[in-house]
Amino acid sequence: MAKRTFGIDFGTSTIKVYKNGNGIILLERNAVTTVGKEKRPVAIGEKAYEMYEKAPPSIHVSLPLSRGVVSHLKDMVALWNFMGEAISGRKKLKRCQFYIAVPADITEVEKQAYSKIITQSDSMPQKVCLIDKPIADAYGLGLDIERSRGIMIANLGADTAEISVLSLGGIVVSRLLPYGGNDFDRAIQNYVRKNYNIVIGLKTAEQIKIELVSAVESDRSYTVVGRDVLKGLPGKITITSREIYPLVKDIFYIFAAQISSLLEHTPPEISSEIVHNGIYLTGGTSFVEGLNQLLANEVRIKINTTDDAQKTVVAGIGYLAEHPKIAAKYAVPLEQ
Ligand SMILES: Nc1ncnc2c1ncn2[C@@H]1O[C@H](COP(=O)(O)OP(=O)(O)OP(=O)(O)O)[C@@H](O)[C@H]1O
Ligand SMILES: [Mg+2]
Repeated sequence: MAKRTFGIDFGTSTIKVYKNGNGIILLERNAVTTVGKEKRPVAIGEKAYEMYEKAPPSIHVSLPLSRGVVSHLKDMVALWNFMGEAISGRKKLKRCQFYIAVPADITEVEKQAYSKIITQSDSMPQKVCLIDKPIADAYGLGLDIERSRGIMIANLGADTAEISVLSLGGIVVSRLLPYGGNDFDRAIQNYVRKNYNIVIGLKTAEQIKIELVSAVESDRSYTVVGRDVLKGLPGKITITSREIYPLVKDIFYIFAAQISSLLEHTPPEISSEIVHNGIYLTGGTSFVEGLNQLLANEVRIKINTTDDAQKTVVAGIGYLAEHPKIAAKYAVPLEQ
């Protein structure tokens, strides 16, 4: 295969890149720091995210995707140009082929914005191909999507939850919900500010979440340092998982209610296979302790989880990038 081909999952929190022949080559925080009116990128990824909420006014830190759509295209292009240098090695990232996973339940214009990240960058692509994310997710899970009558995947990400039903190689229905792990981080940040008068950054809030969030009864604690708003000095607090649960539980039940509602609207010949095989949970938020049990109890269907939950979409889009004939069946047409 002469042409270099990439499969990309532009997640709100993490960009994942697959390179033909190399596998997954990059998982990087979706954040960029730029300076000046021309938006010259100076840092991307974790380094840029660390500066979020802390940077002086001369430095602009952007999180260019929100709720599954490209909200700041220029920043995203700047980020991609910077990242392109990192992933291309000595060869420039020119005349390559790109397969991009996009949410199914967004408008055509919003889908096209994902292709513009590449076409408006310095990459000068030979080809850009968009594929709906639930299809990539199913391939990444290794499911036989052409022959299965009913597959349900709930991808619980950072800013979105995408719940989809697939049958015989197509998407029957897909709902993109504006809820995800970022909402937990924000809720924790607000709670700490209100109850302890301590300001913490989103990165610290995310760490608290990863340590303490649970959908089942749990008794853990975690200590963090923030800035005491009254004293203006650093302040240390210890938070428990019991405090975190009420902040996040509503979203767990929204996930359950939405999965149930989608199942109710699914024709019986499709839902019977879903009930038989169980629902597949993917996305980083599926790592929340006990969430699979909570959903199984609420929806009354087996829930399948995977340790690779954050990588299923990029693994699937990578597979399709390596099999262009199969990918062609699912390509979302690009505007000319
Ligand atoms: N062990 C964990 N416990 C709880 N949450 C976790 C854990 N590990 C990762 N996460 C969360 O998973 C989210 C990232 O998952 P993922 O990479 O699937 O999202 P994304 O693809 O960037 O977002 P989206 O699909 O919504 O655009 C973040 O909110 C992160 O904090
Ligand atoms: Mg995602």
